[in-house]
Amino acid sequence: MLATAWSTTLLGLETHLVRVEVEAARNVPSFELVGLAEAAVRESRVRVRSALAQLGVDLSECRVVVNMAPADLRKVGSGFDLAIACATLAALRKIPEESLAGIVFLGELALSGKIHVLRGVLPQLMGAREAGMRKAIVPHANEGEAAHVTGVDVRVAGTLGEVLSMLKGERELPRANTCIELETLASHEDMSDVRGQVGAKRALEVAAAGGHNVLMIGPPGSGKTMLARRLGTVLPDLNEEEALEVMALQSVAGLLTHGRGGASLPRTRPFRAPHHTSSEGALVGGGDPLRPGEVSLAHRGLLFLDELPEFRRGALEALRQPLEDGIVTVSRVAAKATFPARPLVVAAMNPCPCGHYGDPNHPCVCNVDRHRRYRARISGPILDRLDVHVVLPPVELSCLRGARQGERSEVVRARVVAARERQQQRFVSGLTHATLNGAISASDVEKVCALDAEGERLLRRSFDRLGLSARGLGKVLRVARTIADLAGSDAVRSPHVAEAIGARALDRETRDAA
Ligand SMILES: Nc1ncnc2c1ncn2[C@@H]1O[C@H](COP(=O)(O)OP(=O)(O)O)[C@@H](O)[C@H]1O
Ligand SMILES: [Mg+2]
Repeated sequence: MLATAWSTTLLGLETHLVRVEVEAARNVPSFELVGLAEAAVRESRVRVRSALAQLGVDLSECRVVVNMAPADLRKVGSGFDLAIACATLAALRKIPEESLAGIVFLGELALSGKIHVLRGVLPQLMGAREAGMRKAIVPHANEGEAAHVTGVDVRVAGTLGEVLSMLKGERELPRANTCIELETLASHEDMSDVRGQVGAKRALEVAAAGGHNVLMIGPPGSGKTMLARRLGTVLPDLNEEEALEVMALQSVAGLLTHGRGGASLPRTRPFRAPHHTSSEGALVGGGDPLRPGEVSLAHRGLLFLDELPEFRRGALEALRQPLEDGIVTVSRVAAKATFPARPLVVAAMNPCPCGHYGDPNHPCVCNVDRHRRYRARISGPILDRLDVHVVLPPVELSCLRGARQGERSEVVRARVVAARERQQQRFVSGLTHATLNGAISASDVEKVCALDAEGERLLRRSFDRLGLSARGLGKVLRVARTIADLAGSDAVRSPHVAEAIGARALDRETRDAA
């Protein structure tokens, strides 16, 4: 007899429904699998046969043919086991075929019949819901993430035996625990921990307000890492939609599959700090099955590139396109997938290889050539993507020991949120497609970031002096728009332009060094 069960597969974050058809009959024993299944799927035969045997279902005198449709879709991973096993049970008339209708089955089987945790359950359930499926059975160990999907009746199971007795109508499976909580803020780090560095804090505030990528240049121990780690505390919390998106990416990356891990929705923005030795694949994604890279794991959060000039040139080159487009496309032999990738980049570097260039108390020991080469490493591929540059002076002892503390993160965050609301209004009114100034398209820049007469004069005077490129000019205009938004000003005036130009100081210096 022929029976059908439903499952899903992922391509990037995109979910595709898979129809699993099983024909089983008493015959010369065989177990065939057709329909563009990859190695891990073909191994399913062994697992399903063994798991069914544990339930007393013997396939040794059966001919079983499994067809997975659509045929042109590559089936990756081991998550189809449960669907194959259930369709086989129906094909052998152990359960009524109708019991499988409208249910999505996700789960890899152990030989013992235990159902293993899977990667990517959250996005698969969201995709199944979009495809109109109303019920799903997922591994018990994925309960935490599965509970966040509304509109689908999600049940969890630990073994094939439990699923069998549900399909026979003997028992119900427990629902994925539906308590949706936002993670409580665990961070005790605060901007006020950082003494001095007023200029850098202001640059980070501008970056946070407008979504501008930022580069900090300062000697070792000046607080660059401290500041980067605290940038998230001045950003608004993730809303529920963003949190689900972040969680879906973590799910595909296998970062949630530890027991009930990931039970609460993340509220703080992700912070990813890949080491400068990271490979291109680690940064942008890849592997088999395809996994998101650091640039996607930092989506909606922060990507901290510490020691920027030490990163491999190829790796920085690979980041270029995602940072421009907000998505990353990774390909494997015959498959291509895209992941969202819209992090705020915060990069840091020393002013020179020894770290002391410009420090009155430590003479710099780098020769001119070495210094120049160091700077030149960041010139092309990545400097273009960094809108705001800020130079940090060495911290003075008096400043570290003094009583003066800066503003707390919540105070700064309130200004960032207000500036973001102004930008949101321009988006809602249809003036631009960008919700943040950092993402305003080249064609919208003139319209959205128009300067007043004095601002225009200042810009013209500075253009040649700074040696700005057309792209650099666009950055100045976008950043000036953000500075005006922080000031609550509709017009972009000369003080806003002046501050934005100040944030491009590295352009000319680096161009000269290259
Ligand atoms: N501005 C600062 N205010 C308070 N402490 C600081 C400051 N700068 C550096 N420190 C201290 O020095 C340590 C190293 O700072 P770090 O942020 O790692 O510097 P960098 O990344 O610039 O090398 C910090 O853990 C902190 O204890
Ligand atoms: Mg550091």
